[in-house]
Amino acid sequence: MSTQNETIDQTAAAAVPERIAQHRRYLMCRPEHFTVSYRINPWMEPTTPTDTAKAVAQWQELYDTYVSLGHEVELIDPVPGLPDMVYTANGGFIIDGRALGVRFRMPERSGEERPFMDWFAANGFEVIEPVEVQEGEGDFLLVGDTILAGTGFRSVGDSHRELADVFEREVISLRLVDPRFYHLDTAITVLDPVEGAGAAPRAGIAYLPSAFDAESQRVLAERYPDAIHVSDEDGAVFGLNAASDGRHVFMTPRATGFAAQLRERGYVPVPVDLSELLLGGGGIKCCTLELRGGR
Ligand code: ARG
Repeated sequence: MSTQNETIDQTAAAAVPERIAQHRRYLMCRPEHFTVSYRINPWMEPTTPTDTAKAVAQWQELYDTYVSLGHEVELIDPVPGLPDMVYTANGGFIIDGRALGVRFRMPERSGEERPFMDWFAANGFEVIEPVEVQEGEGDFLLVGDTILAGTGFRSVGDSHRELADVFEREVISLRLVDPRFYHLDTAITVLDPVEGAGAAPRAGIAYLPSAFDAESQRVLAERYPDAIHVSDEDGAVFGLNAASDGRHVFMTPRATGFAAQLRERGYVPVPVDLSELLLGGGGIKCCTLELRGGR
């Protein structure tokens, strides 16, 4: 796949690594019942009108974009009365065909827990019922063999221990401090989940330093010295709520500085505008749950 952004300039091309797209399988939920009827994050304002048809059309563009770049997208049926179900990243966390369900902090979303676990079971995943409060891939991100886990607003610290027990992997706890960035996936983008593979320098992750407490910033800086640090402006438009296949980075068109940082490193920004879904406090990554393994 070649786009205008990737062409020409030989000198620049020599320095920029060639990024390889990896096949992805995602779970999405059409926002047929989308609205903002309660407020559980600072983005949500129930008195602001929402346009469900527009939400569906924008969501469809994301779906079509994934499919056009060769990814597979599975769908879970939306449930009336659960307007946040479109944010499937919060439906679970899946590695090697094993799906850890979620336990939402807010009662407004607890009705989603069972439908997601039922979907995983019906689609061949081994389902693990969670004990501690956590909101799935909204707060847990797989980078190589390591899981980065957020706390501070939604998922509790004890869920990180449970996560490590269930998946037998290293879990690094990170504390979020800015209420606008209440889930980890609003403050970190995993660009390339394969750590250290190949000769090309890999950024691995991009993040918004100011979303984290001092200790978490220290841990991230030490662990990911090549990471992209995203500006507060790009963070504030949910620039980091992006999905990547290792080459294409599906992201909001509003985060122009982040897009330039990505291009410098050989990634290809693919803009998709989900402005209507942002009224619920979610963006591209929130609408995307990665299905790893399972068949
Ligand atoms: N309204 C939803 C909530 O506050 C938005 C969830 C966004 N999801 C995410 N993965 N960041 O729970």
